[in-house]
Amino acid sequence: MRLLRALLRCASPGSIPQQVDFYSRFSPSPLSMKQFLDFGSENACEKTSFMFLRQELPVRLANIMKEISLLPDNLLRTPSVQLVQSWYVQSLQEILDFKDKSSEDSGAIHSFTDTVIKIRNRHNDVIPTMAQGVIEYKESFGIDPVTSQNVQYFLDRFYMSRISIRMLLNQHSLLFGGKINPAHPKHIGSIDPSCNVVGVIRDGYESAKSLCDLYYMSSPELVLEELNIKSPGQPMQVVYVPSHLYHMVFELFKNAMRATMEHNADRCIYPPIHVHVTLGNEDLTVKMSDRGGGVPMRKIDRLFNYMYSTAPRPRVETSRATPLAGFGYGLPISRLYAQYFQGDLKLYSLEGYGTDAVIYIKALSTESIERLPVYNKAAWKHYKANHEADDWCVPSSEPKDMTTFRST
Ligand SMILES: Nc1ncnc2c1ncn2[C@@H]1O[C@H](COP(=O)(O)OP(=O)(O)OP(=O)(O)O)[C@@H](O)[C@H]1O
Ligand SMILES: [Mg+2]
Repeated sequence: MRLLRALLRCASPGSIPQQVDFYSRFSPSPLSMKQFLDFGSENACEKTSFMFLRQELPVRLANIMKEISLLPDNLLRTPSVQLVQSWYVQSLQEILDFKDKSSEDSGAIHSFTDTVIKIRNRHNDVIPTMAQGVIEYKESFGIDPVTSQNVQYFLDRFYMSRISIRMLLNQHSLLFGGKINPAHPKHIGSIDPSCNVVGVIRDGYESAKSLCDLYYMSSPELVLEELNIKSPGQPMQVVYVPSHLYHMVFELFKNAMRATMEHNADRCIYPPIHVHVTLGNEDLTVKMSDRGGGVPMRKIDRLFNYMYSTAPRPRVETSRATPLAGFGYGLPISRLYAQYFQGDLKLYSLEGYGTDAVIYIKALSTESIERLPVYNKAAWKHYKANHEADDWCVPSSEPKDMTTFRST
């Protein structure tokens, strides 16, 4: 650690592109849930967090900034992507201003906390702004399959990087920003050491239900079953970030409700959404089953594509009032939240009947370790390599209309 700091002091040169080159040579350091808790425990202090973050934030920022710079030129030149890039440059610069400050300088440590809060607020709108950039690009230039694959690869990594950077910024600002959250005195920053999984699921259901009632004047019931196999009879608890779990279940409920309401519109009888929560030795699993008619297997992968949605796109000026569906970001971003701490989110569908969406979360906090993208040769190759032809025959993507065959 001391060697690294010495290296950084003498070797990191001045301009931002040089700083990006320099810091992107370091790999981000994934933290475990336990380390996050230790940072917030009584022994840890603002100074320790300051020293870690002024090194780690530039590394995480620079790693993803390198990948931004590999995007197609025309995408990079869109006003929205330029704006996002300018936020990253400014935030990197502001953190680097603390590089030479003494760790004993309490004034600098306090002002670092203010900077962290400012950076967090600056990046609030990164997701819709980046999404807007992709829309602008698609509208002007169209999108071929290779670019589409690259953009999908990039957005997964870019948004995952953002989740992780936000987690670091949030922890520091919640712990040292001077405001204790009176509603959750036991939380360590954004982490709840005994997150009440069922409570969060019910909250997510209620929020989605309000939206569904607003759009469809009705909504499916919730049937929830819980099974604590690890500690029978005990409440279902894990060390987790409740806002992440809430985000995932809220998105899944919105999807399940929309499908249920649309698929059963003729009968006006809306089958309930079943949720099974199981806590085993390794996994906490949340399975949400709806009877909304499902999705053909052929389309399942597509559902995780940014920009794929079967809902009409909400008008931008009304987008502040949350729609039930429409941007196509619900599933891909929720899957990133699940994967961030080594979990996952999968969709299984029975076409014509309904869909099972399954969230996997690590039951043990020692196994909940950040999953972070790293910029290296393998990542670089993804953007540069020519995508060769598939080594399996590709059938036509839509099923053929057999009547056309017969008549020709
Ligand atoms: N439970 C489900 N049953 C049937 N189709 C589903 C289900 N969940 C998702 N889908 C399909 O997947 C698409 C993508 O879902 P996703 O949540 O990513 O975006 P969205 O709901 O369209 O918009 P939003 O960004 O507001 O969530 C949906 O438009 C819908 O066609
Ligand atoms: Mg959705």
